Amino acid sequence: MKIGVFDSGYGGLTILSKIRERLPGYDYIYLGDNARAPYGTRSFQVIYEYTLQAVRYLQAQGCRLIILACNTASAKALRTIQQHDIDPDRLRVLGVIRPTVEVVPSLTRNGHIGILATPGTVSSESYVIELQHQMAAMNEKISTVNCQLSTINYQLSITQQSCPLWVPLIEAGEHDSDGADWFVKKYLDELLRRDPLIDTLVLGCTHYPLLLPKIKEYLQGKPITVISQGELVANSLADYLNRHPEIERDCSKGGTCRYLTTEAADRFSDSARIFINQPVTAEHVSLEHLEK
Ligand code: DGL
Repeated sequence: MKIGVFDSGYGGLTILSKIRERLPGYDYIYLGDNARAPYGTRSFQVIYEYTLQAVRYLQAQGCRLIILACNTASAKALRTIQQHDIDPDRLRVLGVIRPTVEVVPSLTRNGHIGILATPGTVSSESYVIELQHQMAAMNEKISTVNCQLSTINYQLSITQQSCPLWVPLIEAGEHDSDGADWFVKKYLDELLRRDPLIDTLVLGCTHYPLLLPKIKEYLQGKPITVISQGELVANSLADYLNRHPEIERDCSKGGTCRYLTTEAADRFSDSARIFINQPVTAEHVSLEHLEK
């Protein structure tokens, strides 16, 4: 069985490449729904239906473990799919928000966190809700471990900024252009105007690491740590496989990766090379015909 990695487009490749660095021995199938990207501006119902189609497709290709390497799909579709659409004995679907949220509180020095994400992820409030749960769990642990410290209550100030034009720019291969500078500045100006104290900035969309050089240039001289998700998700998957030897045993170990896209295969192959810095041969697939 192969490990499936899904994104609306190219963004999930930033996660896949870190997963393959960390866990090179397994076989993977990457699926990008490039023909229907971006997802970030679509409704809950549409994101859920598209994501479920992708999950069904990857399952039919022999995946028993699928990573939604897309924050928008993780925010809008993951829970419903886990609770209503799959049998956990036959298929596990994991997202990228939880592994990120587990690490973020330990990185901030002053508790001021900025989340950059698609409009869909921002409106779902998933990061805010998950971070609040994480903090509640940490505070509970502290008061259980040491009753004298029970008055300590770690608080976070979370400011979200949606960046609706970043994914279209990246999907169009314009992330290096001068136009991209303007849009990077626009959203970061807005975020830091709303909370100038932010010391930890989460790239809550798997496409955004492509803009990292421009984001870092903008932030030069500011004491802000930028968090990309690739390594966090790779570490979390490694941990998951350790904790689930019955799934790990089932994973085939040929070190291969197939690349599937709903767009034209040659177009995907050309662009994907930029994302993962190695030649890619993609296959075209269609998801629309799949039943729920
Ligand atoms: N990479 C997806 C994410 O992490 C992009 C979503 C989109 O297609 O807008 O949210």
